[in-house]
Amino acid sequence: MTLGGLAITDLVAEFGSPLWVVDEHDLRTRTRAYVEAFPGVRVAYASKAWPTVAVMQIVSSEGCLIDVASAGELHTAMVAGIPVADIVFHGNNKSEAELRMAAELGVGRIVVDSFDELDRLERIGSELACVFDVWLRITPGIDAHTHEYVRTGHDDAKFGFTLSLGLADKAFAHALELSNVNVVGAHAHIGSQIFGTDPFVANAEVMVELLARWREAHGVTIGELNLGGGMGIRYTHEDHPVAIARYGKDVLEAVRRACESHDFPMPQLAVEPGRALIAPSTVTVYTVGTVKKLPGIRTYVSVDGGMSDNIRPALYDAEHEVALASRESDAELAAYTVVGKHCESGDLVRERAPLPGDLAVGDLLAVAATGAYTASMASNYNRLPRPGAVLVGDGRARAIVRRETLDDVVARDIALH
Ligand code: LLP
Repeated sequence: MTLGGLAITDLVAEFGSPLWVVDEHDLRTRTRAYVEAFPGVRVAYASKAWPTVAVMQIVSSEGCLIDVASAGELHTAMVAGIPVADIVFHGNNKSEAELRMAAELGVGRIVVDSFDELDRLERIGSELACVFDVWLRITPGIDAHTHEYVRTGHDDAKFGFTLSLGLADKAFAHALELSNVNVVGAHAHIGSQIFGTDPFVANAEVMVELLARWREAHGVTIGELNLGGGMGIRYTHEDHPVAIARYGKDVLEAVRRACESHDFPMPQLAVEPGRALIAPSTVTVYTVGTVKKLPGIRTYVSVDGGMSDNIRPALYDAEHEVALASRESDAELAAYTVVGKHCESGDLVRERAPLPGDLAVGDLLAVAATGAYTASMASNYNRLPRPGAVLVGDGRARAIVRRETLDDVVARDIALH
């Protein structure tokens, strides 16, 4: 198997295993396709998917804004040299220190999530003599059919101002009275790994209707609308996401139609993809360490990483396609349960992966579409050092994240003697 013109075996020989391998061409092409699918729309990369300096630099160079959700992500964006005006700051509980940091840097947009935050911004703004340009995060009452841990648009959600309970209207009315908070837009993100465009279309309709209602109630026309991220991607052969172009077309048409029917001017739109940009560009490469055959039950294959570098199978029952990456094999396919090396039975890479029946110790396995929410959710469980990451393209490889060492793993411990 090769990626970016390089053999996976050579990459592991040089950079070690496990390893995240990012295909730069794929990442750039996909980002460009997204930007092109939304002409005139600001595309903000939801950096929580993989908030690392090189990835932020690549998507930013393709015209994306950067969405951050903590001081850590904001700091990463600063190190990456992202212009502050291009930063969108999210979070349902941004701390005092985080909001002050945003104020001092002059972050472009703050997405306000609660009444407490509105008041906190008003106070900090008056202390620092600044006015925050904000989007109000609305919970639009749209139940996207996806895993319950990644649904955010339904009423019973911790995020945002709930529309159906009147909280969105109340927040807008309250914000209008503040002097250091300037509501320039509204925002709604309905969830993640969503297939089909219907929930996104419904979200667009609900949000335009809301803006029209605010205009009617207060005579204020809000000019910016962020419709969030959440487009599903292909993790396995059974996943069939819509093409990016179709998604863009459906959403833009929905906004235009809704604007026409409410006689509302077309807002400056923004969208916030994370997974759809970065996930498919990346594979995780592991080395097989043991093959355990349980006759009549199953065969376990253990690799040198697991839930510490990809918690998704354990947390969401997520499935990623797995392939033999280090050699060709004519052997018939057999079902292997690929597991990690952690001390938990839930430490799964893929249940019953179809792999060549002669799989052996030392083989390399590549796990597909691991660019989003794997490195960003990685841990040092069992004190495993986290893997490194390399960027490949045109036959060249560059390290973009250094592999952790054993010393890194104990670096924050303070010995008693
Ligand atoms: N905007 C907001 C406000 C979000 O909370 C998220 C994701 C996004 C945009 C980007 O969504 P995306 O385009 O990546 O679907 N750890 C989970 C996913 C959590 C998503 C969190 N928020 C997973 O591994 O599937």
